[in-house]
Amino acid sequence: VGGITLTAQADNTGGTDSKGASVNDLLVFDQDDFTEKTESIADASGTEHSVTYRFYKARNYVTNPSDSDHQTLVVSVPVKIDGTAVDASNAPIVLANAVGAYMPTSVAEATGVGQAKLEMTGMGGAMPSGMPPGGTGGGMAGGTGAINGMVNLAKPALVAGYVVVEPGTRGRSLTDSSGSYYGTAPAVIVDLKAAVRYIRASKGRIPGNVERIVSTGTSAGGASSALLGASGDSEIYEPYLREAGAADASDAIFATGAWCPITDLEHADGAYEWNWGTLPTQTTGKTVDQSVSKELRSQFAEYQAGLKLRGLKGSGFGKITARNYTDYLLEHYLRPSATKYLAALSASERETYLARNTFITWKNNRATFTWEGYLAHVAQRKKTQPAFDAFDLSAGENNEFGKGTTKARHFTAYSAKNDTTGLSSKRVDSDIPEKLKLMNPMFHLLEERNPNRSKHWWVRLGTSDTDTALTVAANLAMAVDNLGDDVDHAYYWDKGHATNEDPGDFIKWVAKVTG
Ligand code: DHB
Repeated sequence: VGGITLTAQADNTGGTDSKGASVNDLLVFDQDDFTEKTESIADASGTEHSVTYRFYKARNYVTNPSDSDHQTLVVSVPVKIDGTAVDASNAPIVLANAVGAYMPTSVAEATGVGQAKLEMTGMGGAMPSGMPPGGTGGGMAGGTGAINGMVNLAKPALVAGYVVVEPGTRGRSLTDSSGSYYGTAPAVIVDLKAAVRYIRASKGRIPGNVERIVSTGTSAGGASSALLGASGDSEIYEPYLREAGAADASDAIFATGAWCPITDLEHADGAYEWNWGTLPTQTTGKTVDQSVSKELRSQFAEYQAGLKLRGLKGSGFGKITARNYTDYLLEHYLRPSATKYLAALSASERETYLARNTFITWKNNRATFTWEGYLAHVAQRKKTQPAFDAFDLSAGENNEFGKGTTKARHFTAYSAKNDTTGLSSKRVDSDIPEKLKLMNPMFHLLEERNPNRSKHWWVRLGTSDTDTALTVAANLAMAVDNLGDDVDHAYYWDKGHATNEDPGDFIKWVAKVTG
């Protein structure tokens, strides 16, 4: 596809093919196969720079792709920026995924940096519930740039002098000639891991420091990035990586950037009702069934108590439960976020904002408000109920857990029990528990305490993002903080889904943690 062929096929058993050639030999990165390009590219603050870089067009990162179009990556290496030569031979490597909605991404036709495409066609009725078609209002958009309003980090990373790798990935809409879904869970994480292994196996050929791989992604891509960071070298992916013909190398990464990660899917319905359960939905303007909401909320309370997470270092909070979580969110995230936002306004802008938002008290240059005031301000929930495992199997996540020719399946006991599609079984299929582990960073962090996880974490979320509960990102941050990792976590005031308000700070953070 697209002129990409492999010189040989491995049978991928034991890292060698039938003639004894190692998988790594078959995946050699051809250093000379690039075009040198000079473009004007904006840095993270929007300033244009003249950037000369080597662009390595799409090549497969596995020897046995089930889809040679999507399982490819492109590499961009800076050579000269504003006339000054750049030596990227030991630079951090930014692995920028363009995943959204657990849909496929492709770089097969990319001719330069930042052209990864998110393929939103074929979502059919299985869009994430409440997600507007065509990507308005902070939803998803197909095409270059991937997610509406989302800064493409590949370009500013290149302008900062980093090596940029953009992987294509299989996604939930893909079917083969027999109608079988081959891009559903765990394909996206298998592909990202295979890309990391390819980079590591290409040490010395792909320029950059393979011990300083930094992953980025937003929403489903943020979830995948967090999962990549949490699951470094976990053995549970081994059969999948072997089958794909991934390189024989570590898939651990150094640092993880995750914007509004849509993760911990099997617990997200409860968290969603706990957080947004009393708000009317965007689609109908009506409040959801409060008895279902109550049942789901109590599942969240039980789950949260069992996590035994403590508030972030310096937050002054001990164990976080459903009882004190609103205080934790208010004190550690929401009020500081509003304070920062208001402090940056001019006095008259601030006055106008405060006059329109009387739920906020501004005193001694600090914003205070109640949880109820904050909720009324957000006003609406994006999703219907349950938000992720829909009773009628209509959520995008139902498709993400599809298998074979079954497009959508339940992945929680509660929704399987309450199924409305006429399924004979009221339970999840027997492979689901393992699939959930393969897809959930919390498993690797809390159950495995994975020593090969990434130790540096950048997590961001908009305070008006109702694509998932605020607790999902906060729990991820606590999980890594409580393990002793370095976490930079903040919420953007009044910002919706998939926003990135401080890409320049992220680029600087990469320099700091990798330096
Ligand atoms: C995305 C958004 C969702 O609401 C969801 O359930 C899954 C993914 C996204 O924007 O990637």
